[in-house]
Amino acid sequence: MRVSCRLYVEVTELEDLLTLDFDALPQPLFVMGGGSNLLFTGDFPGTVLHMANQGITLNPVISTKAEGRAEKSATVAAGVVFDDFCAWAAAEGLWGPENLSLIPGEVGASAVQNIGAYGVEAKDIIDTVHAFDRQERRFVDIPGADCGYGYRTSLFKTAWKGRYIITAVTFRLSTAPQPKLDYGGVRKALEARFPVKPGMTEEEVVMPDLIGHLTPQMIRETVIGIREQKLPDPKETGSAGSFFCNPVIDREHFERIVAIAKAENGPEYEVPHYDVGDRVKVPAAWMIDQCGFKGMRLGGAQVYPKQPLVIVNATGTATPEEIVALEQRVIGTIKEKYGIELHPEVEHV
Ligand code: EPU
Repeated sequence: MRVSCRLYVEVTELEDLLTLDFDALPQPLFVMGGGSNLLFTGDFPGTVLHMANQGITLNPVISTKAEGRAEKSATVAAGVVFDDFCAWAAAEGLWGPENLSLIPGEVGASAVQNIGAYGVEAKDIIDTVHAFDRQERRFVDIPGADCGYGYRTSLFKTAWKGRYIITAVTFRLSTAPQPKLDYGGVRKALEARFPVKPGMTEEEVVMPDLIGHLTPQMIRETVIGIREQKLPDPKETGSAGSFFCNPVIDREHFERIVAIAKAENGPEYEVPHYDVGDRVKVPAAWMIDQCGFKGMRLGGAQVYPKQPLVIVNATGTATPEEIVALEQRVIGTIKEKYGIELHPEVEHV
């Protein structure tokens, strides 16, 4: 279903932010990136503003380490598609965003949402966020460390909501290999993709020597391979990526969930989880799967069969009401069975 906004403003020149009369725009004002993590629940009565500025600038070297390897940085305009930045960095042989390859959306939003995948979050490589401060009507540079980053959140989503319009982000990059392989099957997929074959010369041998030969491009290709297998292609099937955040619960609560899972699946059954300090992160996808939601439809809305954390517009005609009804059914069932209230990752506008 199509929804519309009262006014759509696209900004390509940063100076225009200084002269734009914000008060004259239909209110409220909503700053949108690629829109890939949003659910519009109906027509929007105000202004949607999109930063469409472009450009990636490689900055002078920050520091040079042993063997001529260097820490570099790149300043990337808010309107650049995040994956285009990932592709650029990999082509330049620069490490940093490779695990974040193929995440939909734009660079500006990546710094609001602290996007993440395969053990890396945007905050790990964000050096500085460049923004227009609507309150003081001037451009500011905010160190990444001051942005209050957490799991899929930042001060831009909370205390600072509405104040800043992100214009660009400076990311830290490195020529030194920094492979992060220990999350979400990246190592296994890498081994499968770049296997050791009989008759290979010593130089060609990869795992376990693969580590010394890795390039950001190899990780990028591997991550893209995993994502293409599990996640819907936004060009074909509408979705907003992960619909829910993965909940973090205390250990006692986790043990109760383990007991439920073992009662249902047998005493040997192991519940997937990640330790987060003394608490435990349980994949929402697992709970949704255990509740039998995989592939479930409600009108045109569907729990994606290959990754049940995603709700898709399966028919292309799903209404916002159908998506929200399916969301509520998932939340209610998980709450009843596991005592956990799932929170949407997708922003409802
Ligand atoms: N699982 C099932 N059944 C399934 C699918 C998954 O039980 O059908 C269980 C498995 O045990 C699996 C676990 O759920 O190990 C986690 O699944 P997966 O590794 O696919 O990742 P996720 O926790 O569901 C998160 C991010 C994704 C990111 C992946 C990879 C959130 C909300 N989502 O998903 O981010 O790509 O990890 O790192 O943290 C997004 O934000 O839009 C997004 C796609």
